[in-house]
Amino acid sequence: MIDYLKKLNEPELYQDLVEYAINNKVPIIKEDGLWLLKKIIRLVNAKNILEIGSAIGYSALHMASIDGDIQIDTIERDSKMIEQAIENFNKYDLNHQINLIKGDALELDLDTLRSQYDLIFIDAAKAQYQKFFLKYTTLLKKGGIVVTDNIIYHQLVNGHHNNISKNTQSLVKKIDAYNHWLQSLDDYSTTFLSIGDGLAISERIK
Ligand SMILES: C[S@@+](CC[C@H](N)C(=O)[O-])C[C@H]1O[C@@H](n2cnc3c(N)ncnc32)[C@H](O)[C@@H]1O
Repeated sequence: MIDYLKKLNEPELYQDLVEYAINNKVPIIKEDGLWLLKKIIRLVNAKNILEIGSAIGYSALHMASIDGDIQIDTIERDSKMIEQAIENFNKYDLNHQINLIKGDALELDLDTLRSQYDLIFIDAAKAQYQKFFLKYTTLLKKGGIVVTDNIIYHQLVNGHHNNISKNTQSLVKKIDAYNHWLQSLDDYSTTFLSIGDGLAISERIK
């Protein structure tokens, strides 16, 4: 099915990055998750975007490619990823639209960022999702959107946990707790989707 949809959707971009990610086991957003993320950006006309977790810059490049007015701040702590991402932003000549912020997102001083984002994409350490959400939504405008990736984590969340390690079990529990916490928030309306590795789309309603 995905091959059929691929042909109908927009042409594939940045395939060299996809190959690099596969060969080097770098986790990047799944194709259908990316289609939805880009569609949301278009529909809500998001211009100021914050990404937590750049890796090699694949999703940031895609988001920037939507429109020349889009500005992206993307945070990454891993030095090898930072090096690759900078190389890729230069290669595709999108570094005027993408600002890579080096460091741990949990320690970063918020004063170094814009004061209002239209959309925040959370795609870093899954065990810390709630902390990222609480910290960075202070910079989200009312009506803004938070997209969280991997909320069903390889179908393991709410699935069968027989053959997985204790660490993975603990991670799965944390993602499940995050999903229920998101669902309970009064100031956000969240839709949970099994697209890609699971996406939560949260709209700030208050
Ligand atoms: C799933 S990858 C990001 C993929 C990227 N968004 C994409 O789809 O192309 C997660 C990245 O988040 C980074 N990361 C994890 N925890 C972080 C933190 N606390 N602060 C900054 N970066 C973090 C990891 O080093 C990793 O490169």
